[in-house]
Amino acid sequence: MTRTHSSSGTLSGHHVLRCVHCGAVQREADPLFQCPACHELLEVVYPELGPLDAADVLRLKQSWRARRLSNAAEDLSGVWRFRELLPQVEPRHRITLREGNTPLWPLRQAARRLGLEQVWVKHQGMNPTGSFKDTGMAAALSVARSEGFDWVCCASTGNTSASMAAYAAQAGMKSIVLLPAGYVTAGKLAQALEFGANVLQLRTDFDGCLRLLNEVVTKFRAYLLNSINPYRLEGQKTVAFELLDQLDWIVPDHVIVPGGNLGNSSALGKGLMEMLELGLIGRLPKISIIQAAGANPLVRTMRENGGSRLITVTPETRATAIRIGNPASWRKAVNVLRRTGGACEDVTEEEIAAAKAELGAEGIGCEPASATTLAGLKKLVRAGFVKTTDTVVLILTGNMLKDVDFILKGGGNQFPGPLEADAEIVIKTLEKLYAGH
Ligand code: F0G
Repeated sequence: MTRTHSSSGTLSGHHVLRCVHCGAVQREADPLFQCPACHELLEVVYPELGPLDAADVLRLKQSWRARRLSNAAEDLSGVWRFRELLPQVEPRHRITLREGNTPLWPLRQAARRLGLEQVWVKHQGMNPTGSFKDTGMAAALSVARSEGFDWVCCASTGNTSASMAAYAAQAGMKSIVLLPAGYVTAGKLAQALEFGANVLQLRTDFDGCLRLLNEVVTKFRAYLLNSINPYRLEGQKTVAFELLDQLDWIVPDHVIVPGGNLGNSSALGKGLMEMLELGLIGRLPKISIIQAAGANPLVRTMRENGGSRLITVTPETRATAIRIGNPASWRKAVNVLRRTGGACEDVTEEEIAAAKAELGAEGIGCEPASATTLAGLKKLVRAGFVKTTDTVVLILTGNMLKDVDFILKGGGNQFPGPLEADAEIVIKTLEKLYAGH
């Protein structure tokens, strides 16, 4: 692990685990990553992390960028490239599929329609297994390996399982997946199977799977890789470092992210807050979290009690990735909303489908859960929360090919049935289709 010492502060991967609720600190976690005192979630904190002087800030930014030119595996990884701000893991245990390094694209047409000058999409669906989960798995699975585990496990709406299975396979470890039967897309299920996971479908929803897994890991030595595992969030927070590097360290006004189990929004916020603390950036963007209207526990929690007590819901949405009613990381997400002044909104099934089609029309594919961000942006512009001069970044979380049924069975696209292989028929059909435009 590289160490950078400075006169004003220190950077090292030395960390402890702190309860997000009561603040109790410990070095090691139990299998459920719960605070022994109050049973709330833990977060990774770096006691030596403090403001850096200007020269060290520059050195750090330069060295992160310089690593992009290196061919060493840990520099090619968009997670391990930022290793100064990650838990120390011996290099031989660091696992990588060269995650991160995802594109940041301008979203021109939608921005114009909304009257906005600058909207970007950061596409985490361009990760090795097609979702943002890969950054979290690189970090947490490496910790599992360094702690000597043979088995890893997760409950999942699909993407976590696909990612975990791939990283476990890379690491030579065995994986167990619990899925809500009938609510995981074929693409995600196929990935987990292809990568050799032991997949069990249960007659319950995601929340039920996670509850059951909590029971399993107290009796079976398997390392839990849901986002209640604080090391997952350490990997996922690197999206914030990478984003700011891509923006040449100019802080956007808004970052908008989908919310399911609320690990990702928490991780994004953590990364940004750590950068502020170190002096890598001078202010925070507002982080807004968007949920599907049929799976909106955080929206209701914020609306009805300002974030003091979680209101759970029975989830229902075609955006199956975020079909979650009892999100584990809700306290962390509330903290991010409070610290950054972001909004928490929900969007209907129709709004999600329309936003997804708009992204598609610009050549940007994503899965339904990701499209909540554009749907949410439209709502936030209408409400005056996002101003026309503001710079906005939408975090797209999953690849379009994860859920092709949503497109094929959505009915929104013109797609004629099979035709005779005849040039005249083809031309006539094209003319008809063209006339519809
Ligand atoms: N977008 C996609 C594509 C997801 O797969 C998920 C979560 C989210 C957004 C929400 O992120 O849970 O951190 O708030 N998928 C999990 C899974 C639950 O099992 O794959 P979150």
